[in-house]
Order: sequence, then structure tokens, then C-alpha cells
Amino acid sequence: MTGPPLTDAFARKITYLRVSVTDRCDFRCTYCMAEDTQFLPRRDVLSLEELDRLASAFIGLGVTKLRLTGGEPLVRRDVMTLFRSLARHRISGALHDLTLTTNGAQLARFATELADCGVARVNVSLDSLRADRFAAITRRGDLGQVLAGIKAAKAAGLQVKINTVALKGGNEDELFDLIGWAGDEGHDLSFIEVMPLGEALGPDRLGQFWALSDLRARLAARFTLEDLAETTGGPARYTRLRETGQKIGFITPLSHNFCASCNRVRVSATGTLYPCLGQAGKIDLRQPLRASETDAPLIAAIRHGLAHKPQAHDFLYSETGVSGQVARQMNRTGG
Ligand code: GTP
Ligand code: 5AD
Ligand code: SF4
Repeated sequence: MTGPPLTDAFARKITYLRVSVTDRCDFRCTYCMAEDTQFLPRRDVLSLEELDRLASAFIGLGVTKLRLTGGEPLVRRDVMTLFRSLARHRISGALHDLTLTTNGAQLARFATELADCGVARVNVSLDSLRADRFAAITRRGDLGQVLAGIKAAKAAGLQVKINTVALKGGNEDELFDLIGWAGDEGHDLSFIEVMPLGEALGPDRLGQFWALSDLRARLAARFTLEDLAETTGGPARYTRLRETGQKIGFITPLSHNFCASCNRVRVSATGTLYPCLGQAGKIDLRQPLRASETDAPLIAAIRHGLAHKPQAHDFLYSETGVSGQVARQMNRTGG
């Protein structure tokens, strides 16, 4: 390890890095980005070699869990070159978990290769099992293609976790269908509260918000819920449905703040460090990365950034409105 492990000003150890390899995506999920989103100019985006160097510097500082995100990570050209090269950190044992969050559309093409790179599990975003609704939420997604991608991942031996953004009036009526399907297919399932990111996404945040405390109450009416102490190092809290044995995750940034146990930071495709998903603060790592062939300036910038990691986000939904919004869209940081 290069010096002491990464710790922030609140004594939180940072062991989880999420790297957004592109802000582009083949979908346009309504809660994530505007239909006419302007993507970063390609010249501003780090090369795959630079992303590898950046991620490797974090691993040298004690990061043990690395997740590639987007936009959609699998639309970045030659992204498998990056996975193949990062696999060395799995082999050395420095990295315990090399994984990705994907919309699943390209999974059928890449599942086997991902498994070969030491990826053991993937998180796939899926908000509906109804083709017309899925197309409306993603604005251009094809449900059949995503389900085929999920099947391919399972066939390749990857464990699949489904992420579903809970949308009031959006997918409430599919709660038990989603749970039934995930149970039949053997996938863990997590629900996520919609967060107020992206100023271009319109004022209807309050209308979309479905508190997971309510979702949980609906589950409790049908199943016996057994809360689990285990964690994957992510923000989800897990419950087992005694009747089916299924594990259901709850990611509740709004109704149950989990910032006190935060162990993660994000880097965008341009090499910008975002110490907190829910705050605007950022630190440029591209300049120190490019300024020197040694990692010393980069490591100094990372430590500086960590020292300024905020204590918490300020997202708040109340009867009168939404506050604590962040102007940046989710596709910039990958969730
Ligand atoms: P596991 O390794 O399976 O636990 O995954 P994970 O939950 O760490 O990653 P995933 O990409 O599945 O994250 C799911 C979603 O949780 C993200 O897309 C975000 O919406 C939300 N999330 C993750 N980390 C944070 C965080 O630090 N703060 C907030 N507010 N939300 C987060
Ligand atoms: N609030 C909560 N989750 C979101 N995601 C994208 N935008 C939002 C938002 N505003 C989720 C996606 C995916 C992950 C990368 O982030 O559904 O699961
Ligand atoms: Fe693409 Fe993911 Fe954003 Fe949907 S949530 S538009 S799949 S980056």
C-alpha cells in the first residue's frame, strides 16, 4: 500500500471506488437524464490506460472494491481491455471485488468475457417487466434484449443483482411481479429511492418519490421479513422473505440516511473525483495524472479530495417540495 489507508475527516475508511468509464448510454431513463443530454466531448474523456492508472492508484491506497459504471459502461469502446487489465488486481488479491453496474442491453455480448476477467457478479438496472412501460421509462430500451442479457450473465456463471428504482405511480403495481420473477430466476433484488439529481429533469421529483418504508410495509403484509446484518460494502440494507428465502435490498438515501457508514467515492470519465454523490464538490485528478509519470501528484490530489469529503448529502423531500438537489445528472457519476 502507498502510505496510510484512505480515510476522510470523519474517520470513514474509503475502500470502494466507482469509476464512470463513459457518461454515454444507449438508454435515456427519465429519472437519470434528459432526452437531449449533451455528452462530454471525447477529447475530455480519459483513455482506458489512464483509467487503469487512476483505478490502480486507488487500489494502491487500499481500495478493495472497484465498480465500473457509466452512463452505460458496456457502450464504451474496447471497455473489455480495461476489465482484462484490471483483472491483475483480482489475481494479486489486492482487489476483492471487480464488478459493474449495467443496464443489461449489451450483456449478452460480454457476459462470458466478464466472467473470464474475474467479475463474479453484476448489478443490472431493471424497473419494469412490462415491455411498454420499460420502453417508456428508459425512452429507448428493449425489455427482451435486457432479459436476454440477464440470462446470458446467469449462464456465464455471474451472480446477478437487480436494481429497481421505486417510482410512485410508475412501478408500484409491479412490486410482487418483480419479486416473483427475481425469486424464480434466483436474482437478488434491491429497491432504490429516487434521488433529486439532474436539474434538467423537471419539477416532478416529489411526485415520483416512493418511500421504501411504504414499499416495505406492503411487503410485510404478504411476507415475513427477517432483517439481515450482512452487507456487500454497498449502501443496501437487506431483508430475507422467510416464505421464499429471497434477499431484498433497500437503498434509502432519503428515508434512512446511510452516509455515516459511507465507504466510497466516485471518479468520472474525465478524471474528476466526486467525494459525495449528493453534493456538488469535485476535485480534478486528470491534471495531476497527466502532469507526471509518477503517481505522487495524483496520490496527493486523491488524499486532498478525501479530506474534503462531505459528511452527508442534503437531499430532502417534504410536503412542500424537494431540497438538496444536485444539478449534475446521474449519468456523470454512475450512481
Ligand atoms: P453492491 O455491491 O451490490 O452492494 O452494489 P452497490 O449498491 O454499491 O452499487 P449499485 O451500483 O447497485 O448502487 C445502487 C444505487 O445505490 C446507486 O446507483 C445509487 O443510486 C445508490 N447509491 C450507491 N451509493 C450511494 C451513496 O453513496 N449515496 C447515495 N445517496 N446513493 C448511493
Ligand atoms: N435516483 C436513484 N437512482 C438512480 N439511478 C439513476 N438515476 C437515479 C436517481 N435519480 C440508478 C439507476 C441504476 C443506477 C446506476 O442508478 O437505475 O440502477
Ligand atoms: Fe443509462 Fe443507467 Fe442513466 Fe438509465 S440510469 S439512462 S441505463 S445511465
